[in-house]
Amino acid sequence: MRAPVQLAHASRLLNHGPTVLVSTIAGGRRNLMAAAWSMPVEFTPPRIAVVVDKNTYTREQVAKTGMLALNLPCRALADLTYTVGSVSGRDDPMPAEDKFDRYGIASFTGPALGLPLVEGCIGWLECRVIAEPHTEQAYDTFFVEVVSASSDTRVFANGRWMMDGRHPELHTLHHLGAGLFAVAAETVQGRVMAG
Ligand SMILES: Cc1cc2nc3c(=O)[nH]c(=O)nc-3n(C[C@H](O)[C@H](O)[C@H](O)COP(=O)(O)O)c2cc1C
Repeated sequence: MRAPVQLAHASRLLNHGPTVLVSTIAGGRRNLMAAAWSMPVEFTPPRIAVVVDKNTYTREQVAKTGMLALNLPCRALADLTYTVGSVSGRDDPMPAEDKFDRYGIASFTGPALGLPLVEGCIGWLECRVIAEPHTEQAYDTFFVEVVSASSDTRVFANGRWMMDGRHPELHTLHHLGAGLFAVAAETVQGRVMAG
């Protein structure tokens, strides 16, 4: 079900503002947090802005490696998304356990950067941080460049989402606050009007 997405189509995965899971690995230790705030900012190469709070363990890991992955969770992963967004990997006992182990989250290795990617998600973007020392110091925002993208072809193929109700459990999550999510449920095809 998983297939590469052309980098030219990578921004489409985030066009509609889905909540993502930010995964990292540093010194052999993985981590995962939820992020409602990410958006495409450049087409070619595909670049994204993502907000990672300075207090998070994720932030510490990204600062060490300059890499992160965005995983797109679906309706079936609402509990997982809220959970990894509610506890810190900093609290896990060293060195054996991380959030993946603690909550039984299966992962596979990203093809370009070797980042841990979450099984059961419907889209995956491996990204390198674009070094912006001033921005990183002043804000919680990172600018990253997508170096590999892939999708679950049941809901995203040929650069297009197919949220037509065939796989409702695979539709994206959109955080409304306090663990309440809207699910992308319906699409409508806009047409250019005759002027
Ligand atoms: C649905 C959801 C969305 C969130 N969005 C963001 C976000 O966009 N940016 C951010 O810094 N934290 C966000 N958070 C909070 C982090 O996920 C949370 O602080 C997490 O525990 C950090 O984990 P870590 O310390 O292991 O990195 C969100 C939490 C939830 C539940």
